Amino acid sequence: MSNKPKHHHRGQFTSSLGFILAAAGSAIGLGNLWKFPYIAGNSGGGYFLLFYIAFVLVLGIPITLAEMSLGRSTELSAVGAYRKINKNWTFVGGIGVLCAFVILSYYSVVGGWVLKYIAAYLTGGQFGGDYGAYFDSFVASPVEPVVWHLVFMAFCALVVVGGVAKGIEKASKIMLPALFVLIVVVAVRACTLPGAAEGLKFFFVPNAEPINTPSKFINVIVLAMGQVFFSLSLGMGITITYGSYLKKNDNMVKSTMLITGLDSLIAVLAGMAIIPAVFALSSRENLTAGPGLIFKTLPAVFDSMPLGGVFGLLFFILVFFAAATSAIALLEVVSAFLIDTLHWKRRTATVSMAAAMALIGVFASLSMGALSGFTIGGMNLFDAMGFLTDKILMPVSALLTCIFVGYVWGVDKAAEEVEQCGVAFRLRRAFAFCVRYLAPVLILVILVMGLVNQ
Ligand code: PHE
Repeated sequence: MSNKPKHHHRGQFTSSLGFILAAAGSAIGLGNLWKFPYIAGNSGGGYFLLFYIAFVLVLGIPITLAEMSLGRSTELSAVGAYRKINKNWTFVGGIGVLCAFVILSYYSVVGGWVLKYIAAYLTGGQFGGDYGAYFDSFVASPVEPVVWHLVFMAFCALVVVGGVAKGIEKASKIMLPALFVLIVVVAVRACTLPGAAEGLKFFFVPNAEPINTPSKFINVIVLAMGQVFFSLSLGMGITITYGSYLKKNDNMVKSTMLITGLDSLIAVLAGMAIIPAVFALSSRENLTAGPGLIFKTLPAVFDSMPLGGVFGLLFFILVFFAAATSAIALLEVVSAFLIDTLHWKRRTATVSMAAAMALIGVFASLSMGALSGFTIGGMNLFDAMGFLTDKILMPVSALLTCIFVGYVWGVDKAAEEVEQCGVAFRLRRAFAFCVRYLAPVLILVILVMGLVNQ
């Protein structure tokens, strides 16, 4: 028997729901939980929500659908899919895999922090009075964050070694619904705190102040586009890879709508869980604390409310589910590349790649403490990796994906693939317009503004 995997050896999602949950799980992550709420609040509230939804419609949905049809049509993961259609474009898949590799190396470090906080809540939730100092000294310490990072990576590897149906699909079917229930519980608690209304107003009511000059307006528009990109994990081959495990009779338009809709819903629920609580129990300035919002501000907020220890624990479990389903997707992109292209066994591919990323992650973790003196362009290794992926690799790869699907493979081929399920693709012309013209122009703007604003 040849060692070349035949299609039925690659694995497949057993149900459309399983695929949707896995793909939504890859999209729903820290971007929804900490980035979206404070960006939205500070960038015009209701206005930002409208811009965000508009960009989900014109960028998020078409590019997700383009990636999904590429994957399902070729039945190959990122690199193989491009190579099968046009050898000269193989490198675009390569950029996606590289991007996934770099992201997971540092994403797993943050995943480790989340595990540490779950452990802290389970053992009594003592943060020593100063939540900021607790977090800062934890991430800068040489051993503990590294150990939690390795545990997080090992967990993801365990799921991915299990394969598409028995590992990824099964894990997503448990973690995503659980995440949904937990976020609703925390949001209800937050919205019923005295003083929560101010926070809800800040989040939902349109506020023209942050967009009342042309340059402020452009900045907010670019922020909204960037957030759609990051949140839907566009341009790194995740949807190509997951799409390749999809049955031909799946209605991809419906799946895309559900995946992007769920991602946006969780972002809004996160805003309703976090902003009212911060307004009611802390101060509004703390919303801009970036990652510190989750690790420094929220534990303080939870501690000042009744049953705060329980809500803190539930919150960090839900953050863990969000981070783990994203990390699993990233690991799958890298593993599937080796399985499809070099015909490695799943176990070998997954374990060796997880080990390689874990090793780089160790340095990323240490770059916040022992190795903070080592900088690249003024950034420590952790921040430099984030800059490389968010500002350069993701937009470049998404831009090339649009050009590839729009002009090289052709939107007609993509549309034919969409129609395999037997339902006419009614939005075909709108899809073609977005993929060929609108999305490339908008992505170019994100790319240039992202580099200029540095
Ligand atoms: N989409 C994820 C989020 O919203 C982030 C992410 C980006 C995950 C890229 C994987 C890859 O947090």
